[in-house]
Amino acid sequence: MTLQGSIHGSYPYTRLRRLRRSEWSRNLYAESRLSANDLIWAIILKDGDHVEEPVEHLPGVFRLSPDKAVLAARRASNLGINALALFPFTETNLRTPNGDEALNPDNLMCRTAKAIKDAVPDIGLICDVALDPYTDHGHDGLVENGLIVNDPTVEILCRQAVLQALAGFDVVAPSDMMDGRIGAIRCALEAEGLVDTQIMSYAVKYASCFYGPYRGAIGSEGVLTGDKKTYQMNPANAAEGLREVALDIAEGADSVMVKPGMPYLDMVSRVKEQFSVPTFAFQVSGEYAMISAAAATGALNREQVILESLMCFRRAGADGVITYFGVEAAELLNG
Ligand code: PBG
Repeated sequence: MTLQGSIHGSYPYTRLRRLRRSEWSRNLYAESRLSANDLIWAIILKDGDHVEEPVEHLPGVFRLSPDKAVLAARRASNLGINALALFPFTETNLRTPNGDEALNPDNLMCRTAKAIKDAVPDIGLICDVALDPYTDHGHDGLVENGLIVNDPTVEILCRQAVLQALAGFDVVAPSDMMDGRIGAIRCALEAEGLVDTQIMSYAVKYASCFYGPYRGAIGSEGVLTGDKKTYQMNPANAAEGLREVALDIAEGADSVMVKPGMPYLDMVSRVKEQFSVPTFAFQVSGEYAMISAAAATGALNREQVILESLMCFRRAGADGVITYFGVEAAELLNG
C-alpha cells in the first residue's frame, strides 16, 4: 500500500488510540491540567472558638470558627491552594431587614480575614459581596414593598466591599446580581485608595436550586421569602449571560464567574472563548451534595468523580474552580 495525502489522514494510518496507549503518552498529550493551584476552597465560618460543626447535606464540610479557619488556611496553603472563599453563617439574632451586620467592621468575616492574614499572609482571600447572610428575609438586597430594590442595595454593597477590603480581603466577589454594582464598587474602592483590590464578579449567576445546601450552611434556610428570580438569571438563558459578562468587564471586573458550575459548562466555555478574560466556575453546594451522596451509596467512586468533575471545568475553559472539595481534592492531586 502506498501512502498518499488523501488517505494519510485517515484509518488505518491515523489511529487516535496510539496516543492513549500508555500513561506517559496520555499525560504528555493532555490538553488541560488540574492542580491545587486551580482550586479556590470554599469555607463556611461560624462565630465562636474551636468550632467545627458538620453541615447538613455536605458531608466533610464544617462550619469553622476563626481560629479553626486559620488552621484550615494554613493547611490549604501548604497544599498549594492559592485562595479561600469565605462565607458566614449568621445567627438569627444578627439578621435584620437591611442586613446591618454586613456593615459592621468587626463582623465575623472581617475578624476572620484579619486573623488569617496575620497567620497565613500569602493566601488570597475572597469575600462575597451580598446581603443574604445578614438579612432576615434571606435576599441579597434591600426589600421594599416586596421588591428587591436595585440602587439602594448597590449603595450598601459599595460600603460592604470597602469594609471587606479594609479588613484584608484581596478579592471582593459581588454575588448579588444587582445592575451596575461592579462599576459602583470599583468607584468606591478607588475613592478609598483601594486600587489593588480585585473584583471577581459573579457575572453569570443563575436562580438555581443547586444552592439549597448552602442556604442551610449559612443559616438562611427557612429564612428566604420567595425566590431570587427577579435578580438571578433564568437557567434557560445563555445570550443574556454574555451581556452580563460584557457589562461587568466594562465596569471594571478583574475576573468573572459562572455559577452553578457543572450544569452550566457551556457558559464557562462561551465566556472564555468570547471574552478571553480570567474565568472562574463555582462548583456549588448542590453539586458537592450530589457527588457526595452518590459516592456514599457506592454508585460513584468519590475520589475519581471529584477529580473528573474538576478537570472538566478546566477543559471547558475555567482558569480556576471554587469548590468545597478544596483540600480533599488538593490532597488527591498531590498524591
Ligand atoms: C449569596 C450566595 C449564594 C451562593 C454563594 N453566594 C446563594 C444564593 O445566591 O442564593 C451559593 C453557593 C453554593 O451553593 O455553594 N449571594
